[in-house]
Amino acid sequence: MTTQTIPGYTYGHPDVARSPVSMEEFERLKQTVLFTEEDVHYLRMAGDVLADQIEDVLDLWYGFVGSHPHLLYYFQGPDGQPIPSYLERVRARFGQWILDTCRRPYDQDWLNYQMEIGLRHHRTKKNQTDGVPAPPHIPLRYLIAFIVPITLTIRDFLARKGHSPETVEKMHQAWFKAVTLQVVLWSYPYARDGDF
Ligand code: HEM
Repeated sequence: MTTQTIPGYTYGHPDVARSPVSMEEFERLKQTVLFTEEDVHYLRMAGDVLADQIEDVLDLWYGFVGSHPHLLYYFQGPDGQPIPSYLERVRARFGQWILDTCRRPYDQDWLNYQMEIGLRHHRTKKNQTDGVPAPPHIPLRYLIAFIVPITLTIRDFLARKGHSPETVEKMHQAWFKAVTLQVVLWSYPYARDGDF
């Protein structure tokens, strides 16, 4: 699937609003999670390592969500059953997100789409992209907590292409920083005015 054909994926589209976080604020955030050019380098490497393993990564993460009813809940319809088309459409965007995390420049378009993803987890925009009657809001506590499985489970995949343990460690740390940075940005709509 090319990025143009992923349903609901609007990265770089003119209708994605400008992030309320300035580039200067973002630079300070990067410094706060120790994110440097070296991490950009190792994320690119991670992208090459992960590119042909995306479906396996998604199987694992979806398995994790599917085996925890309190998480699967956010993909369910009013009848209490998961909505297959919702799971499928989000899965395609999630796969693209893995590559975006590793390969996109963290520029204004990237920053703007982080706000969009935050809004899509928050009641402001959840369900709208896919037109589904699922629960309207994902609590912030789960977004933050999810950094742990998303980070710990990626390590085995990073180690599968024969890189040295030191290089795997560098890729893993870069991934951890990139995911944390993003969840911080996604928390924007959850914070009271002026509190972010
Ligand atoms: C959407 C990643 C936490 C449920 C998405 C998307 C990505 C993503 C990449 C698609 C964005 C797009 O539309 O382009 C993540 C990451 C998380 C996280 C990295 C934390 C580290 C959670 C949690 C849940 C969840 C805890 C609860 C089960 C969903 C749902 C959607 C979604 C239901 C679709 C939202 C909509 O209606 O547009 N997530 N997510 N996510 N995620 Fe998450």
